[in-house]
Amino acid sequence: RLLCSISFAVTLLRILVVNPSHFFYSGTFLFPRRWLNLQEYQSKKLMQESGVAVQRFYVADTASEALEAAKRLNAKEIVLKAQILAGGRGKGVFDSGLKGGVHLTKDPAVVGELANKMLGFNLTTKQTPKEGVKVKTVMVAEALDITRETYFAILMDRSFNGPVMVGSPQGGMDIEEVAASTPELIFKEAIDIFEGVRDDQALRMAANLGFKGALQRQAADQIKRLYDLFLKVDATQVEVNPLGETPEGQVVCFDAKINFDDNAEFRQKNVFAMDDMTEADPTEMAAAKWDLKYIGLDGNIACFVNGAGLAMATCDIIDLHGGKPANFLDLGGGVKEKQVYEAFKLLTADPKVEAILVNIFGGIVNCAIIANGITKACRELELKVPLVVRLEGKTALDTHQHWNTCTKVFVLPL
Ligand SMILES: *[C@@H]1O[C@H](CO)[C@@H](O)[C@H](O)[C@H]1NC(C)=O
Repeated sequence: RLLCSISFAVTLLRILVVNPSHFFYSGTFLFPRRWLNLQEYQSKKLMQESGVAVQRFYVADTASEALEAAKRLNAKEIVLKAQILAGGRGKGVFDSGLKGGVHLTKDPAVVGELANKMLGFNLTTKQTPKEGVKVKTVMVAEALDITRETYFAILMDRSFNGPVMVGSPQGGMDIEEVAASTPELIFKEAIDIFEGVRDDQALRMAANLGFKGALQRQAADQIKRLYDLFLKVDATQVEVNPLGETPEGQVVCFDAKINFDDNAEFRQKNVFAMDDMTEADPTEMAAAKWDLKYIGLDGNIACFVNGAGLAMATCDIIDLHGGKPANFLDLGGGVKEKQVYEAFKLLTADPKVEAILVNIFGGIVNCAIIANGITKACRELELKVPLVVRLEGKTALDTHQHWNTCTKVFVLPL
C-alpha cells in the first residue's frame, strides 16, 4: 500500500511540479491531468498581443535565422534561450557538448555558433528524461538589466469565488517560500468579475509591489493589461515572476507562466493549437486524446477503473495483496464504448502488463457500455493476458451474457 501510495504521490508530484502555485494557492488537491504548457516565446507573444511589456525578441529554427535575429535586435546585450518546456535550462547540457540552455552575449556574431550547438541537439536538465529533449526552436531576445524584482499573479481562487491578484515585492524567488517565511509580504486583491480591475486597486497593488512615482502608474497599467490577457485567453492563472524594474525606468514582465482553462478549448483554438506534445509521455498523450486520465506506473497489473477515488483505492488494494499496479487509469463519468476500446489498447500495448483488472462501479456509467467496449477490444486486440472484471451497479446483471462471447474473460464477482 505504501509503495503504491508513494509511487502515485511521486507521479502527482511530477504533475504538480509543473504547476506548483496552483497547488499552493487554491489549497485544493489537484486531480492528475495534463496541462497545456506553452513555450516561453509563445507565452510572450500572447503577452505582447495584449500590450504587456516584454523584452524584444525573435524566434529562430535555424542557426542562420538566429544570427540574423541577433543582428536585427541591435541590443547592447543578447540572451539566447533554448525553447523546451522543462525547467532548469540554464544549468542544462546539450549532447553537442555545449553547456547551458541560456546564454548571454554582447556579440551578435557568436549567436549563430551557439544556436548551431543547440538546434537539433538534445538538452538534458534536471527536469527532462535522461536522454534529454530535442531543441527545435531558440529565442533570441534583448537582455535587460533588472534593478528590482517583484512577483505578480492573477489566478482563480475558490476562497474569493473568482479571480484574485496576488503580489509581492519579493520577486524572482520561490513565492511559496516568501509566503511561508514572510506572509506579510504577500498582498491579495480580489477582482470583481463584472467590474474588472479598478484603477485604485491596480495602483494599490503597484504600491504594495514597491513601485513609486511614474513607475507605480506604469506597473498599474501593466497589471490592467495582464488582467485583459487573463480574460482574453481564458486563463486560470497568469503568473509573472519577475515583474521587474530596469535601470532605464521601465516595468517589464521578464518571465511568465500562463495556465489555461481546458473547458474553454472550444473557443481558444489558437491557444490550444500551440500545444507542443513532443515533450509529453506518448501513452499519457494518447490517453488524453480520448479524454482518459492515464498515468504510467512501474508494476505489471493494469487497472481499468472509473473515478479517481476508486482508481486510487484499486491501486492500494493491488499493492496490499502483493501486486504492483502498472498504471492509474480513470475512465471518468460519461464514458463511450470507443473510449473503453482505446483504453484497452493503451493497457495492452504496455509490455510489462501481465494481467488486467477492471473495477467499475456503474453509477453514472452504464456497465453495458463498458462490457460492450471490453468485448470488442478482446475480439479485435487478441488479448493475450488474463482479464479480471468486476462490474457493479447500473445494468451490471444484464451484462453477464456478454462474457460468453469473449473466451479470455474471467468474471470475478466481489
Ligand atoms: C533526443 O530526445 C528525443 C526526445 O525529444 C528522444 O526521442 C531521442 O531519443 C533523444 N536522442 C538522443 C540521441 O538521445
